[in-house]
Amino acid sequence: MHFENTHILLGVTGGIAAYKTPDLVRKLTAKGATVRVVLTDSAKEFVSPLALQAVSGHPVSNDLLDKDAEAAMGHIELAKWADKLLIAPATANFIAKLTHGLADDLLSTLCLATDAPIYIAPAMNQQMWHAKATQANLTTLSQRDVTFFGPAQGEQACGDVGPGRMLEPQDLADLLLPQKSPLLLKGQKVTITAGPTREEIDPVRYISNHSSGKMGYALARAAKELGADVTLVSGPVTLPPPADINTVKVNSAKQMLDAVMSTIKDCNIFIACAAVADYRVQQKVDQKIKKSDDELTLTFVKNPDILKEVAHLSSPPFTVGFAAETQNLKEYALGKLQRKKLNMIAANDVSDSKIGFNSEQNALTVFWPKGELKLEVADKQLLAKKLMLLVEQRYTEQK
Ligand code: C5P
Repeated sequence: MHFENTHILLGVTGGIAAYKTPDLVRKLTAKGATVRVVLTDSAKEFVSPLALQAVSGHPVSNDLLDKDAEAAMGHIELAKWADKLLIAPATANFIAKLTHGLADDLLSTLCLATDAPIYIAPAMNQQMWHAKATQANLTTLSQRDVTFFGPAQGEQACGDVGPGRMLEPQDLADLLLPQKSPLLLKGQKVTITAGPTREEIDPVRYISNHSSGKMGYALARAAKELGADVTLVSGPVTLPPPADINTVKVNSAKQMLDAVMSTIKDCNIFIACAAVADYRVQQKVDQKIKKSDDELTLTFVKNPDILKEVAHLSSPPFTVGFAAETQNLKEYALGKLQRKKLNMIAANDVSDSKIGFNSEQNALTVFWPKGELKLEVADKQLLAKKLMLLVEQRYTEQK
Protein backbone atom coordinates (compact mmCIF):
# COMPACT_ATOMS: atom_id res chain seq x y z
CA MET A 1 0.00 0.00 0.00
CA HIS A 2 2.26 2.77 -1.29
CA PHE A 3 -0.47 5.09 -2.44
CA GLU A 4 -2.38 6.15 0.69
CA ASN A 5 -1.89 9.81 -0.13
CA THR A 6 -2.66 9.56 -3.83
CA HIS A 7 -5.82 11.15 -5.20
CA ILE A 8 -7.07 9.61 -8.43
CA LEU A 9 -9.73 11.34 -10.47
CA LEU A 10 -11.30 8.72 -12.72
CA GLY A 11 -13.18 10.04 -15.76
CA VAL A 12 -15.53 7.52 -17.35
CA THR A 13 -16.84 8.15 -20.87
CA GLY A 14 -19.50 6.33 -22.85
CA GLY A 15 -18.07 3.04 -24.08
CA ILE A 16 -19.12 -0.53 -23.35
CA ALA A 17 -15.92 -1.03 -21.31
CA ALA A 18 -17.39 1.40 -18.75
CA TYR A 19 -19.01 -1.65 -17.12
CA LYS A 20 -15.53 -2.62 -15.91
CA THR A 21 -14.93 0.65 -14.04
CA PRO A 22 -16.33 -0.44 -10.63
CA ASP A 23 -13.69 -3.19 -10.72
CA LEU A 24 -11.07 -0.61 -11.77
CA VAL A 25 -12.01 1.58 -8.79
CA ARG A 26 -11.60 -1.45 -6.50
CA LYS A 27 -8.18 -2.26 -7.97
CA LEU A 28 -7.06 1.36 -7.42
CA THR A 29 -8.40 1.58 -3.87
CA ALA A 30 -6.80 -1.81 -3.08
CA LYS A 31 -3.47 -0.07 -3.70
CA GLY A 32 -4.43 2.54 -1.13
CA ALA A 33 -5.46 5.38 -3.45
CA THR A 34 -8.50 7.60 -2.92
CA VAL A 35 -10.68 7.63 -6.04
CA ARG A 36 -13.33 10.11 -7.11
CA VAL A 37 -15.31 9.42 -10.25
CA VAL A 38 -16.68 11.76 -12.90
CA LEU A 39 -19.03 10.35 -15.53
CA THR A 40 -20.06 11.83 -18.85
CA ASP A 41 -23.75 11.70 -19.75
CA SER A 42 -23.29 8.77 -22.12
CA ALA A 43 -21.21 6.83 -19.58
CA LYS A 44 -24.30 6.70 -17.36
CA GLU A 45 -25.91 4.50 -20.02
CA PHE A 46 -23.23 1.84 -19.47
CA VAL A 47 -22.49 1.91 -15.75
CA SER A 48 -24.51 2.89 -12.71
CA PRO A 49 -23.35 6.02 -10.84
CA LEU A 50 -24.62 4.36 -7.66
CA ALA A 51 -22.29 1.37 -8.16
CA LEU A 52 -19.32 3.72 -8.63
CA GLN A 53 -20.34 5.73 -5.59
CA ALA A 54 -20.55 2.54 -3.53
CA VAL A 55 -17.10 1.23 -4.52
CA SER A 56 -15.31 4.59 -4.39
CA GLY A 57 -17.02 5.71 -1.18
CA HIS A 58 -17.56 9.20 -2.66
CA PRO A 59 -20.40 10.88 -4.53
CA VAL A 60 -20.01 10.58 -8.29
CA SER A 61 -19.98 13.83 -10.27
CA ASN A 62 -21.52 14.33 -13.68
CA ASP A 63 -22.96 17.80 -14.17
CA LEU A 64 -20.95 21.01 -14.45
CA LEU A 65 -23.99 23.01 -13.39
CA ASP A 66 -25.06 20.83 -10.44
CA LYS A 67 -25.49 23.29 -7.54
CA ASP A 68 -25.29 20.63 -4.80
CA ALA A 69 -22.16 18.99 -6.22
CA GLU A 70 -20.52 22.40 -6.73
CA ALA A 71 -21.31 23.34 -3.14
CA ALA A 72 -19.73 20.09 -1.86
CA MET A 73 -16.59 20.27 -4.02
CA GLY A 74 -16.46 22.81 -6.87
CA HIS A 75 -15.05 21.68 -10.20
CA ILE A 76 -11.89 23.77 -9.85
CA GLU A 77 -11.37 22.35 -6.38
CA LEU A 78 -11.83 18.83 -7.79
CA ALA A 79 -9.31 19.57 -10.56
CA LYS A 80 -6.80 20.75 -7.92
CA TRP A 81 -7.55 17.76 -5.65
CA ALA A 82 -6.40 15.24 -8.30
CA ASP A 83 -2.83 13.91 -8.31
CA LYS A 84 -3.53 11.87 -11.44
CA LEU A 85 -6.42 12.01 -13.88
CA LEU A 86 -7.25 8.71 -15.60
CA ILE A 87 -9.86 8.58 -18.34
CA ALA A 88 -11.03 4.99 -18.76
CA PRO A 89 -12.63 4.08 -21.04
CA ALA A 90 -11.82 7.07 -23.28
CA THR A 91 -13.96 7.17 -26.43
CA ALA A 92 -12.75 8.53 -29.79
CA ASN A 93 -15.14 11.43 -29.26
CA PHE A 94 -13.69 12.32 -25.87
CA ILE A 95 -10.11 12.06 -27.18
CA ALA A 96 -11.07 14.48 -29.98
CA LYS A 97 -12.60 16.91 -27.47
CA LEU A 98 -9.49 16.79 -25.33
CA THR A 99 -7.25 17.41 -28.34
CA HIS A 100 -9.16 20.58 -29.15
CA GLY A 101 -9.49 21.83 -25.58
CA LEU A 102 -13.30 21.78 -25.47
CA ALA A 103 -14.92 22.32 -22.09
CA ASP A 104 -18.61 21.60 -22.66
CA ASP A 105 -19.14 19.17 -19.79
CA LEU A 106 -17.67 18.50 -16.36
CA LEU A 107 -15.01 15.97 -17.40
CA SER A 108 -13.61 17.98 -20.33
CA THR A 109 -13.60 21.10 -18.14
CA LEU A 110 -11.64 19.23 -15.45
CA CYS A 111 -9.08 18.16 -18.04
CA LEU A 112 -8.38 21.81 -18.81
CA ALA A 113 -8.55 22.95 -15.20
CA THR A 114 -6.15 20.40 -13.75
CA ASP A 115 -2.38 20.48 -13.71
CA ALA A 116 -2.29 16.79 -12.76
CA PRO A 117 -0.87 14.42 -15.39
CA ILE A 118 -3.53 12.91 -17.67
CA TYR A 119 -3.64 9.20 -18.56
CA ILE A 120 -5.93 7.77 -21.20
CA ALA A 121 -7.17 4.21 -21.70
CA PRO A 122 -8.74 4.30 -25.16
CA ALA A 123 -11.65 2.01 -26.00
CA MET A 124 -13.30 2.06 -29.39
CA ASN A 125 -13.98 0.10 -32.56
CA GLN A 126 -10.74 -0.84 -34.37
CA GLN A 127 -11.70 1.19 -37.48
CA MET A 128 -12.29 4.27 -35.33
CA TRP A 129 -8.90 3.69 -33.68
CA HIS A 130 -7.20 3.48 -37.10
CA ALA A 131 -9.06 6.57 -38.44
CA LYS A 132 -6.66 9.31 -39.48
CA ALA A 133 -8.40 11.86 -37.26
CA THR A 134 -8.02 9.65 -34.16
CA GLN A 135 -4.39 8.88 -34.95
CA ALA A 136 -3.61 12.59 -35.46
CA ASN A 137 -5.31 13.36 -32.12
CA LEU A 138 -3.18 10.72 -30.37
CA THR A 139 0.00 12.22 -31.79
CA THR A 140 -1.00 15.71 -30.66
CA LEU A 141 -1.90 14.55 -27.15
CA SER A 142 1.30 12.47 -26.82
CA GLN A 143 3.29 15.58 -27.67
CA ARG A 144 1.46 17.33 -24.82
CA ASP A 145 2.68 14.63 -22.43
CA VAL A 146 -0.64 12.84 -22.15
CA THR A 147 0.12 9.14 -21.52
CA PHE A 148 -1.80 6.37 -23.28
CA PHE A 149 -2.37 2.97 -21.69
CA GLY A 150 -3.28 0.53 -24.48
CA PRO A 151 -5.56 -0.17 -26.23
CA ALA A 152 -5.34 -3.96 -26.28
CA GLN A 153 -5.97 -6.03 -29.39
CA GLY A 154 -8.69 -8.62 -29.65
CA GLU A 155 -12.35 -9.27 -30.21
CA GLN A 156 -14.57 -6.22 -29.82
CA ALA A 157 -18.16 -5.79 -28.63
CA CYS A 158 -19.22 -5.15 -32.25
CA GLY A 159 -17.63 -8.40 -33.46
CA ASP A 160 -14.60 -6.77 -35.14
CA VAL A 161 -11.14 -7.94 -34.22
CA GLY A 162 -8.29 -5.47 -33.80
CA PRO A 163 -6.91 -2.76 -31.53
CA GLY A 164 -9.43 -0.86 -29.41
CA ARG A 165 -10.17 -2.90 -26.30
CA MET A 166 -9.65 -1.14 -22.98
CA LEU A 167 -6.80 -2.67 -20.96
CA GLU A 168 -7.97 -4.85 -18.08
CA PRO A 169 -8.55 -3.07 -14.72
CA GLN A 170 -5.57 -4.75 -13.01
CA ASP A 171 -3.19 -3.71 -15.84
CA LEU A 172 -4.52 -0.13 -15.71
CA ALA A 173 -4.11 0.00 -11.93
CA ASP A 174 -0.53 -1.35 -12.20
CA LEU A 175 0.38 1.14 -14.91
CA LEU A 176 -1.16 4.12 -13.09
CA LEU A 177 0.15 3.19 -9.65
CA PRO A 178 3.29 1.16 -10.31
CA GLN A 179 4.83 -0.81 -7.50
CA LYS A 180 7.89 1.15 -6.41
CA SER A 181 10.81 -0.69 -7.98
CA PRO A 182 13.79 -1.43 -5.81
CA LEU A 183 16.76 0.43 -7.32
CA LEU A 184 18.41 -2.80 -8.44
CA LEU A 185 20.37 -1.11 -11.23
CA LYS A 186 21.55 1.94 -9.27
CA GLY A 187 25.00 2.98 -10.44
CA GLN A 188 24.77 0.82 -13.60
CA LYS A 189 25.00 2.34 -17.06
CA VAL A 190 22.52 0.98 -19.59
CA THR A 191 22.49 1.83 -23.31
CA ILE A 192 19.38 0.98 -25.33
CA THR A 193 18.77 1.34 -29.07
CA ALA A 194 15.22 1.90 -30.30
CA GLY A 195 13.16 2.57 -33.40
CA PRO A 196 14.03 2.10 -37.06
CA THR A 197 17.00 3.49 -38.94
CA ARG A 198 16.59 5.58 -42.06
CA GLU A 199 19.01 5.03 -44.92
CA GLU A 200 19.08 7.89 -47.41
CA ILE A 201 18.96 7.23 -51.14
CA ASP A 202 19.01 10.84 -52.37
CA PRO A 203 18.15 14.18 -50.67
CA VAL A 204 14.41 13.36 -50.65
CA ARG A 205 14.16 9.55 -50.39
CA TYR A 206 15.12 6.84 -47.96
CA ILE A 207 14.47 3.22 -47.01
CA SER A 208 13.32 2.32 -43.52
CA ASN A 209 10.86 0.03 -41.70
CA HIS A 210 7.73 0.16 -39.54
CA SER A 211 9.36 0.02 -36.10
CA SER A 212 7.57 2.47 -33.78
CA GLY A 213 10.24 2.57 -31.06
CA LYS A 214 7.62 1.84 -28.37
CA MET A 215 9.34 -1.25 -26.96
CA GLY A 216 12.78 0.40 -26.75
CA TYR A 217 11.33 3.52 -25.13
CA ALA A 218 9.41 1.35 -22.65
CA LEU A 219 12.63 -0.50 -21.80
CA ALA A 220 14.45 2.79 -21.26
CA ARG A 221 11.75 3.88 -18.78
CA ALA A 222 11.82 0.48 -17.05
CA ALA A 223 15.63 0.61 -16.68
CA LYS A 224 15.38 4.16 -15.32
CA GLU A 225 12.78 3.01 -12.75
CA LEU A 226 15.28 0.41 -11.55
CA GLY A 227 17.74 3.25 -10.92
CA ALA A 228 20.00 2.80 -13.97
CA ASP A 229 21.82 5.63 -15.71
CA VAL A 230 20.19 5.21 -19.13
CA THR A 231 21.20 6.39 -22.59
CA LEU A 232 18.57 5.86 -25.27
CA VAL A 233 19.88 5.92 -28.83
CA SER A 234 16.81 6.41 -30.97
CA GLY A 235 16.15 6.27 -34.68
CA PRO A 236 13.45 8.55 -36.15
CA VAL A 237 10.16 7.97 -34.27
CA THR A 238 7.21 10.18 -33.34
CA LEU A 239 7.42 9.40 -29.61
CA PRO A 240 8.40 12.25 -27.27
CA PRO A 241 11.79 11.68 -25.56
CA PRO A 242 11.18 10.03 -22.16
CA ALA A 243 11.54 12.41 -19.21
CA ASP A 244 14.94 12.41 -17.46
CA ILE A 245 16.54 10.01 -19.94
CA ASN A 246 19.52 11.03 -22.02
CA THR A 247 18.13 10.51 -25.54
CA VAL A 248 20.42 10.68 -28.58
CA LYS A 249 18.53 10.99 -31.86
CA VAL A 250 20.08 9.47 -34.98
CA ASN A 251 18.97 8.59 -38.48
CA SER A 252 21.18 5.99 -40.12
CA ALA A 253 22.69 2.72 -38.87
CA LYS A 254 26.17 4.24 -39.11
CA GLN A 255 25.10 7.17 -36.91
CA MET A 256 23.50 4.72 -34.48
CA LEU A 257 26.73 2.72 -34.31
CA ASP A 258 28.79 5.88 -33.60
CA ALA A 259 26.35 7.02 -30.89
CA VAL A 260 26.38 3.57 -29.25
CA MET A 261 30.16 3.25 -29.37
CA SER A 262 30.61 6.63 -27.70
CA THR A 263 28.67 5.32 -24.65
CA ILE A 264 30.00 1.78 -24.55
CA LYS A 265 33.33 2.14 -22.72
CA ASP A 266 31.80 2.23 -19.25
CA CYS A 267 28.46 0.69 -20.19
CA ASN A 268 27.30 -2.29 -18.07
CA ILE A 269 24.27 -3.45 -20.06
CA PHE A 270 23.57 -2.95 -23.78
CA ILE A 271 20.10 -3.70 -25.14
CA ALA A 272 19.67 -3.61 -28.93
CA CYS A 273 15.97 -3.09 -29.50
CA ALA A 274 16.29 -1.04 -32.69
CA ALA A 275 15.15 -2.45 -36.04
CA VAL A 276 18.37 -1.50 -37.81
CA ALA A 277 18.18 -1.54 -41.62
CA ASP A 278 20.32 -4.44 -42.80
CA TYR A 279 21.43 -2.56 -45.92
CA ARG A 280 22.09 0.99 -47.10
CA VAL A 281 22.62 2.26 -50.63
CA GLN A 282 26.25 2.01 -51.62
CA GLN A 283 26.46 5.62 -52.71
CA LYS A 284 23.96 8.25 -51.62
CA VAL A 285 23.22 10.49 -54.63
CA ASP A 286 23.69 14.22 -54.01
CA GLN A 287 20.85 15.37 -56.29
CA LYS A 288 17.30 14.07 -56.53
CA ILE A 289 17.15 11.02 -58.83
CA LYS A 290 15.05 11.87 -61.91
CA LYS A 291 12.57 9.38 -63.33
CA SER A 292 14.06 9.48 -66.82
CA ASP A 293 14.61 5.72 -67.18
CA ASP A 294 12.00 2.93 -67.02
CA GLU A 295 14.09 0.99 -64.56
CA LEU A 296 16.24 2.05 -61.66
CA THR A 297 18.88 -0.15 -60.13
CA LEU A 298 20.30 0.64 -56.73
CA THR A 299 23.20 -1.22 -55.16
CA PHE A 300 22.95 -1.88 -51.45
CA VAL A 301 25.77 -2.74 -49.07
CA LYS A 302 25.49 -4.33 -45.65
CA ASN A 303 25.19 -2.08 -42.62
CA PRO A 304 27.33 -2.70 -39.56
CA ASP A 305 25.71 -5.08 -37.08
CA ILE A 306 25.75 -2.82 -34.03
CA LEU A 307 24.84 -5.55 -31.56
CA LYS A 308 27.45 -7.95 -32.90
CA GLU A 309 30.16 -5.29 -32.82
CA VAL A 310 29.36 -4.49 -29.19
CA ALA A 311 29.20 -8.17 -28.17
CA HIS A 312 32.57 -8.86 -29.85
CA LEU A 313 34.43 -6.06 -28.01
CA SER A 314 37.33 -7.29 -25.86
CA SER A 315 35.41 -6.53 -22.66
CA PRO A 316 31.78 -6.26 -23.72
CA PRO A 317 28.88 -5.16 -21.54
CA PHE A 318 26.06 -7.64 -20.80
CA THR A 319 24.42 -7.75 -24.25
CA VAL A 320 20.76 -8.32 -25.00
CA GLY A 321 19.39 -8.65 -28.53
CA PHE A 322 15.94 -8.91 -30.04
CA ALA A 323 14.85 -11.33 -32.71
CA ALA A 324 11.69 -10.68 -34.69
CA GLU A 325 10.80 -13.92 -36.41
CA THR A 326 7.90 -15.25 -38.48
CA GLN A 327 8.79 -18.96 -38.07
CA ASN A 328 11.11 -21.33 -36.17
CA LEU A 329 11.29 -18.78 -33.34
CA LYS A 330 13.43 -20.82 -30.94
CA GLU A 331 15.87 -22.20 -33.51
CA TYR A 332 16.54 -18.80 -35.13
CA ALA A 333 16.75 -16.98 -31.79
CA LEU A 334 19.24 -19.51 -30.38
CA GLY A 335 21.27 -19.27 -33.60
CA LYS A 336 21.53 -15.48 -33.14
CA LEU A 337 22.39 -15.84 -29.46
CA GLN A 338 25.41 -17.99 -30.36
CA ARG A 339 26.50 -16.28 -33.59
CA LYS A 340 26.39 -12.80 -32.12
CA LYS A 341 27.84 -13.96 -28.76
CA LEU A 342 24.96 -12.51 -26.75
CA ASN A 343 24.09 -12.99 -23.09
CA MET A 344 20.38 -12.96 -23.80
CA ILE A 345 17.91 -12.69 -26.68
CA ALA A 346 14.24 -11.70 -26.60
CA ALA A 347 12.30 -13.22 -29.48
CA ASN A 348 8.87 -12.26 -30.75
CA ASP A 349 6.64 -13.75 -33.38
CA VAL A 350 5.92 -10.87 -35.78
CA SER A 351 3.63 -13.03 -37.93
CA ASP A 352 1.05 -12.52 -35.14
CA SER A 353 -0.53 -9.15 -36.00
CA LYS A 354 -1.76 -8.72 -32.40
CA ILE A 355 1.79 -8.08 -31.18
CA GLY A 356 5.08 -6.59 -32.26
CA PHE A 357 5.76 -3.72 -34.68
CA ASN A 358 3.60 -0.66 -34.06
CA SER A 359 1.23 -2.46 -31.73
CA GLU A 360 0.67 -1.43 -28.09
CA GLN A 361 1.24 -4.96 -26.89
CA ASN A 362 3.94 -7.54 -27.24
CA ALA A 363 4.81 -11.05 -26.08
CA LEU A 364 8.35 -12.38 -25.84
CA THR A 365 10.22 -15.59 -25.30
CA VAL A 366 13.57 -14.84 -23.73
CA PHE A 367 16.52 -17.19 -24.22
CA TRP A 368 19.92 -17.26 -22.55
CA PRO A 369 22.63 -19.93 -22.76
CA LYS A 370 21.06 -22.24 -20.17
CA GLY A 371 17.47 -21.18 -19.92
CA GLU A 372 14.37 -19.60 -21.37
CA LEU A 373 11.27 -17.79 -20.12
CA LYS A 374 8.00 -16.91 -21.84
CA LEU A 375 6.60 -13.45 -21.12
CA GLU A 376 2.92 -13.56 -22.08
CA VAL A 377 1.08 -10.87 -24.12
CA ALA A 378 0.95 -7.59 -22.19
CA ASP A 379 1.10 -3.85 -22.65
CA LYS A 380 4.64 -2.96 -23.80
CA GLN A 381 5.39 -0.95 -20.63
CA LEU A 382 4.44 -3.85 -18.33
CA LEU A 383 6.35 -6.29 -20.50
CA ALA A 384 9.41 -4.01 -20.51
CA LYS A 385 9.40 -4.04 -16.69
CA LYS A 386 9.37 -7.83 -16.60
CA LEU A 387 12.14 -8.04 -19.18
CA MET A 388 14.33 -5.50 -17.35
CA LEU A 389 13.94 -7.44 -14.10
CA LEU A 390 15.02 -10.60 -15.91
CA VAL A 391 17.99 -8.80 -17.50
CA GLU A 392 19.01 -7.48 -14.08
CA GLN A 393 18.77 -10.97 -12.56
CA ARG A 394 20.90 -12.60 -15.27
CA TYR A 395 23.39 -9.70 -15.29
CA THR A 396 23.83 -9.88 -11.50
CA GLU A 397 24.24 -13.67 -11.53
CA GLN A 398 26.84 -13.42 -14.27
CA LYS A 399 28.95 -10.70 -12.56
O1 C5P B 1 20.16 -10.42 -37.23
P1 C5P B 1 18.94 -9.66 -36.84
O2 C5P B 1 18.82 -8.37 -37.58
O3 C5P B 1 17.67 -10.42 -36.83
O4 C5P B 1 19.25 -9.31 -35.30
C1 C5P B 1 18.38 -8.55 -34.55
C2 C5P B 1 19.12 -7.95 -33.38
O5 C5P B 1 20.35 -7.35 -33.80
C3 C5P B 1 18.33 -6.83 -32.74
O6 C5P B 1 18.66 -6.82 -31.38
C4 C5P B 1 18.86 -5.58 -33.46
O7 C5P B 1 18.72 -4.42 -32.68
C5 C5P B 1 20.33 -5.93 -33.66
N1 C5P B 1 20.92 -5.39 -34.90
C6 C5P B 1 21.88 -4.41 -34.81
N2 C5P B 1 22.47 -3.93 -35.97
C7 C5P B 1 22.11 -4.41 -37.17
C8 C5P B 1 21.12 -5.39 -37.27
C9 C5P B 1 20.54 -5.86 -36.11
O8 C5P B 1 22.21 -3.96 -33.71
N3 C5P B 1 22.67 -3.92 -38.26
